[in-house]
Amino acid sequence: MTTTLPRRRLLEGLLAIGAVGCAHAQAATAEGDRPEAPDSAWKRVRDEFALSPAWIHMTGFLLASHPRPVREAIEALRRQLDENPVDALHGHDDTSPVREAAAAYMGVRAAEIALTDSTTMGLATLYLGLPLKAGDEILTTVHDHYSTHESLRLAAERTGASIRKISLYDRASAATAEGMAGAIARALTPATRVVAITWVHSSSGVKTPVRAIADAVARANQGRTPEERILVCVDGVHGFGVDDVTMADLGCDFFAAGCHKWIFGPRGTGVLWGKAELWPRLRPSIPHFGEEGYMAWLRGQPAPATNANMMSPGGFHSFEHRWALPAAFAFHRRIGKDRVAERIHALNRQCKEGLAGMKHVALHTPLDDGMSAGLVCFEIAGMTPAAVVARLREKRIVASTAPYATSYVRVAPSLVTSEADVEAVLREVRALA
Ligand SMILES: Cc1ncc(COP(=O)(O)O)c(C=O)c1O
Repeated sequence: MTTTLPRRRLLEGLLAIGAVGCAHAQAATAEGDRPEAPDSAWKRVRDEFALSPAWIHMTGFLLASHPRPVREAIEALRRQLDENPVDALHGHDDTSPVREAAAAYMGVRAAEIALTDSTTMGLATLYLGLPLKAGDEILTTVHDHYSTHESLRLAAERTGASIRKISLYDRASAATAEGMAGAIARALTPATRVVAITWVHSSSGVKTPVRAIADAVARANQGRTPEERILVCVDGVHGFGVDDVTMADLGCDFFAAGCHKWIFGPRGTGVLWGKAELWPRLRPSIPHFGEEGYMAWLRGQPAPATNANMMSPGGFHSFEHRWALPAAFAFHRRIGKDRVAERIHALNRQCKEGLAGMKHVALHTPLDDGMSAGLVCFEIAGMTPAAVVARLREKRIVASTAPYATSYVRVAPSLVTSEADVEAVLREVRALA
């Protein structure tokens, strides 16, 4: 999935986003793949963020800092809105550019994308919009986030569908793709209508084999009517902006992700993607403010068949953030999705290998690149996760505890951190022995 690419491409990407103002880098690009210090190109990426240099930011996965092109796009749009709100609103009535930018990044069509404000809004929009009924079963796992579990609970309460939660692994560090896909396959029943999973578990850092699960579900779907078909729905927020895949690679039916974590999009933005033929089966919970629904209402006509756009919750939004979202996808695409994936995996590997070698540390995230993404979860013998996070903070390292019943320390080496930052984390964790 990730390949080693010439440094020239990365530099060209940085030039394109304006990250490289210095003559040195321009010369390097012009002259070909002249070696640079390994981290210097990535330093230019980090320099695009206004993050305080007083801290090592290992929590980019929680809430994004906006890189310069995103900040500039938001500011330009904010000016337009402040100068003439109505003209700005009408000038951006059509959200196609935002949906097209997301679609290009995800390898899908803009017509298959609904815009949301967060992962949570996408998941709730999806699960509360599905045509579930009493007797239907939703299959989910014990590893998913509050936002999935609560959206499912609310959907089940309204529709009479039941929820079944299974475990995909006993020990996160020993999770395997075959084991996880097999657990889902064995739990499918004639009543299953939805498989609700999370791409990368923010409790443990385990990456689920979405493709293998989708394949197992496709086999179970053979011979089912469209109404009986099992839908694979994914909370994708912690792989989105990390791994270099398209929706076709994942093979799921619906995919919800906030864009304000790994994508570095404006805070309060997200996307919900679904296969084109499935949208008419959904019902919006919040009226959409687009032509489709509004015109039918004005004319006193029945609402048209649901499409993806109509599943974008309506009402006015923090528009300067929503309209600036293309700048974040452009930031990723110009660096290169493959480069981003390679970089994040390399930093995570460095972190995991360092932690795995420490006797007082229990590493919960699998070492295997294919079984993890950007999150590293661990415990230290004799210390609570909160105590570890507090000690790291004393050393100006921002880590977090996972908000789950069983909680671990989480760090996320990412595009805003360096090899030296990872080394600093390892040094401080070593000192806690
Ligand atoms: C797996 C997972 N899903 C959903 C969320 C919520 O994301 P959002 O703030 O975009 O709703 C989080 C954490 O913040 C998460 O870790």
